[in-house]
Amino acid sequence: MNPPEHLMLPGPTPFPELVREAMGTPAIGHRGGEFKTVLERVFPRLKWLFQTQNDVFLLTASGTAAMEAGMINTLNTGDEVLVFCCGVFSERWAEMAELLGAKVTLIQVESGKINTVTSLEAALNVKNDYKAIVFTHSETSTSVLNPLKALCETVRKLATPDTLIFVDAVTSMGATSVPVDAWDIDIAISGSQKSFMISPGLSFLSVSPRAWRVFETCERPGLYFNFKKYKKAQDAFSTPYTPATHLILALDQALAMMETEGLTEIFERHARLRDMTRAGVKALGLELLVMADTDASPAVTSVRPPAGISVDAIRAGLKKDFGLIVANGQKELKGQIFRIGHLGYQFDRDIEMTLIALEKVLSDLGHPVTPGSAVSSARNAVQAAQKRPETVS
Ligand SMILES: Cc1ncc(COP(=O)(O)O)c(C=O)c1O
Repeated sequence: MNPPEHLMLPGPTPFPELVREAMGTPAIGHRGGEFKTVLERVFPRLKWLFQTQNDVFLLTASGTAAMEAGMINTLNTGDEVLVFCCGVFSERWAEMAELLGAKVTLIQVESGKINTVTSLEAALNVKNDYKAIVFTHSETSTSVLNPLKALCETVRKLATPDTLIFVDAVTSMGATSVPVDAWDIDIAISGSQKSFMISPGLSFLSVSPRAWRVFETCERPGLYFNFKKYKKAQDAFSTPYTPATHLILALDQALAMMETEGLTEIFERHARLRDMTRAGVKALGLELLVMADTDASPAVTSVRPPAGISVDAIRAGLKKDFGLIVANGQKELKGQIFRIGHLGYQFDRDIEMTLIALEKVLSDLGHPVTPGSAVSSARNAVQAAQKRPETVS
């Protein structure tokens, strides 16, 4: 018998038992009173998680659809958009804006580096009237966490007052604080298979009053993603089209669990898991793609394999001997890094288990390790984290 698989991915993430049970319940009519009661719980809890009074729309479609919904409802052909790129997902925003006919200016950094306030200031000193500026908070392909608060403050200080701030919070929402109102974010998006602990297939999108004003000038907002259709339906605790009912039943359970845990506790847990992972892999003599602790995502950690050992061999060993699934790098980072997800329904024991497994697999592959060093370094990181509590915003 082989060990059951456990996903240590930055999405999809493991399901809590309550989520699994919810997905296996009998069919439910999406226009009935019972489902309305579920939406009456889900919609306010999404606002709670996004820390906002803005509308937070629930889409039956993956995170990329929420990105497109944000853009298709606000951009017209020829609009100028500034996109901060630091990996695969931030580049997707640029591609999408271009396909929608926008004129895109890119600010690129090398893999593993954050987008800086200095580069934003420099860009806004040249031109400050972009229609929209896009930041990817946690860039899942490299594992950086961009300094979103400072970036948003800089936009509000230097850009024209109606500039829209788009934030890809797909792997940061529910892993670290993304206070949409306090940071004055116009469109923030996230997806269900991440900190939400449920299957892929739902996404979430907040819309600020500024974004609503821009929507009124949008020439072709389309139908499936049309903000007005969502607003009308959600104000009546409904959905504009047939929703993925069982994903929403699962979401109801997951959000209730998150509320019980509490925002601060959720953010502390993710920060601790990140710190444990980073300390553990360093103790194994491995190099991290994101060098500075302050730039590291609480959702995922990118690790370079030791010289002479392939990413494929490490991933295969973790899977075969321990049932642990970690991610490869994407695009040009494929085979250059492996990525350990610590997002959603994950605990200290999951990181310890992964580090023990990694130590064994590396040792089997001929990499010298000091037995027990990874877990003991991770435990030291827990103690350090206790002295440095996370705050909500
Ligand atoms: C940062 C980021 N943005 C966007 C996406 C796209 O989301 P989806 O794959 O759900 O369409 C992902 C998916 O992993 C992501 O990590």
